[in-house]
Amino acid sequence: MRLIILRSVTWFAGLMPTVWLVWRFLDDRLGANPIEEILHRLGDVSLIFLLVTLAITPLRAVVGWNEIIKIRRPLGLFGFFYLTMHFLTYAVLDQTLDFEFIIEDVLERPYISIGFTAWILLIPLAITSTKGWIRRLGKHWKKLHRLAYVATIMGVVHFYWQGKADTYWPTLAAMLITVLMIYRIRNSRGRWRPQVREAKNR
Ligand code: HEM
Repeated sequence: MRLIILRSVTWFAGLMPTVWLVWRFLDDRLGANPIEEILHRLGDVSLIFLLVTLAITPLRAVVGWNEIIKIRRPLGLFGFFYLTMHFLTYAVLDQTLDFEFIIEDVLERPYISIGFTAWILLIPLAITSTKGWIRRLGKHWKKLHRLAYVATIMGVVHFYWQGKADTYWPTLAAMLITVLMIYRIRNSRGRWRPQVREAKNR
């Protein structure tokens, strides 16, 4: 029962940003520059989903509720979906598919280069997130999916670099990813393993 509620909340949270953006678009409430507004909100939402996805494993150890791990994949895929929409908003609506300009932008503007690299890194992770791929890749799956940390760190740097003045949210995102990375490193050294094992036995 708890799992059904958790899954429903995940899907609700995953679909809400789309409903909210479409509703604001139809209601003509996207401000003076709707494309920029869509681009920015999609960027925010994708980063939130990526960070929440990475927070699931530590959260499982803290709250001792193993089933929470079942929402990690949908959360990660929602993150990738919004990120792809963020990229498409940039490429299709903002740059009107001017490939020459897009390539130049990716090569010459550091915040675009790092954001683009992060998106590319996440593509194989999204593809291999199915049960079949988890089985096929075996122990390599975990190694490959560590790239999610690299991509999210790059996403945070991108967020930092694109902001002209306001560093409040990028700093908060940087603090969050730092905490998650510290947990990840300590956990991989086995220090916090007993806690996880204890949680598993509940
Ligand atoms: C993991 C990858 C990425 C993440 C997490 C991310 C996230 C974000 C965030 C949070 C913002 C700022 C939103 C705000 O101001 O509230 C943003 C802005 C932006 N992003 Fe990304 N992004 C990523 C990848 C990309 C890619 C692949 C592109 C295009 C190639 C891109 C293009 C832009 C642009 C053009 C802006 C607006 C910059 C401005 O208005 O000056 N991003 N992104």
